[in-house]
Amino acid sequence: MTSQFDVRSVDDRFVWHPYTQHGLNQPPVIVSRAQGAYLHTDDGRRIFDAVSSWWVTLHGHAHPKISAAIAEQAARLEQVIFAGFTHEPAARLAAELIRRAPAGLQRVFYSDDGSTAVEVAVKIALQYHRNRGQDRRLVAALDNAYHGDTFGAMSVSGRGLFTEPFSPHLFDVARLPDPVDHDVVAALEQLIATRGREIAAVIVEPMLLGAGGMRMWSADSLRAVRDLTATHGIPLIADEVLTGFGRTGPMFACEHAGISPDLMCLSKGLTGGALPLGATLVREELFESFRSDDRRRTLFHGHSFTANPVACAAALASLSLLDDSCAAERSRIERAHRCASERLSTLPGVCNARVLGTVLALEIESGPDGYLNAVGPSLHRHALDRGVLLRPLGNTIYVLPPYCSTDEDLARAYGVIAEFASAR
Ligand SMILES: Cc1ncc(COP(=O)(O)O)c(C=O)c1O
Repeated sequence: MTSQFDVRSVDDRFVWHPYTQHGLNQPPVIVSRAQGAYLHTDDGRRIFDAVSSWWVTLHGHAHPKISAAIAEQAARLEQVIFAGFTHEPAARLAAELIRRAPAGLQRVFYSDDGSTAVEVAVKIALQYHRNRGQDRRLVAALDNAYHGDTFGAMSVSGRGLFTEPFSPHLFDVARLPDPVDHDVVAALEQLIATRGREIAAVIVEPMLLGAGGMRMWSADSLRAVRDLTATHGIPLIADEVLTGFGRTGPMFACEHAGISPDLMCLSKGLTGGALPLGATLVREELFESFRSDDRRRTLFHGHSFTANPVACAAALASLSLLDDSCAAERSRIERAHRCASERLSTLPGVCNARVLGTVLALEIESGPDGYLNAVGPSLHRHALDRGVLLRPLGNTIYVLPPYCSTDEDLARAYGVIAEFASAR
């Protein structure tokens, strides 16, 4: 699309982009529209969105059902304060989420995004104990986890490059080791033995440590963490912001282990990736600890756009698309990933190829691991030049595509990775 408006120079002058070093990064790609699994640029290129635009897009961009639901809802009720008021999309969505969620989760608290869904979960867990007159303040969290960029979410995330400038301002947590290569269950047992009565909650990214390097951990460990926390009356928070809505195969990653957490954080794919929305699902017992004739027991938390009706309508449309045929599409992607993972593993320098549902990840051997590894920007550029959007986490490369991606689309992404690895 040609435009009189000079996006490039106006953006360059006025906009500050996320996770972007403006002193180094190439100018951003100007996207004029998106459809299905493809982004269309202002200069006429098509780019396969192999990372689902930061892991949010489920059914493809601009899905007609979701777009129509948004348009219809925007014309009827676009926004209303959610304290003292409610509306059909929020009530319906809460019921639909609870219907699909692991058993026992019975209440939905809405927020804006993944970070706020986590903030809400941590605040609910902390205040729950206080409401019951118990002094439990310690949150236990996994090393290498990522839960978001707000202060509470950073506090419970693994510490490192992203959190370092803020470390004096983050609250202390009991750090459990990365469950991929450590015995997290033994560590949790040990922690409970020494500080069990202080623990307010354990927070995990079930099955998949996403931003920490697409690290996949076992259903057995997750089940054991659930068993231990349940036995000791410690609320378990499952951060399913990335893993929810079929991303790892089943509707929620907790299903791999057949477990039900006490709190569950959702966002990203909640609206099919069309609009921002967060939700924290909780067990009734936690909710009931706040219900009182004492106003001090209120959960004093809310956002201007809590339960925005348009976002809720988009989420309802997305949920209705997560039907059986979507499960079949996800299985097809998983099969394609498994074949590709075998093939890519044979390339020199490629290691640790792994698949969980619609997520394929591998490492390229190249100096020290970590987010600043040069493989990241270099493969990003290589792929972009070939019409594929990849956004490696350092030397961890992953493909996390929209569910509408065809076998040909996927083959393109695998091909770009193979070409990059072979050329090294
Ligand atoms: C597991 C997990 N939790 C929380 C977040 C934060 O979500 P948001 O970026 O929407 O704040 C992310 C984002 O990548 C995530 O992967």
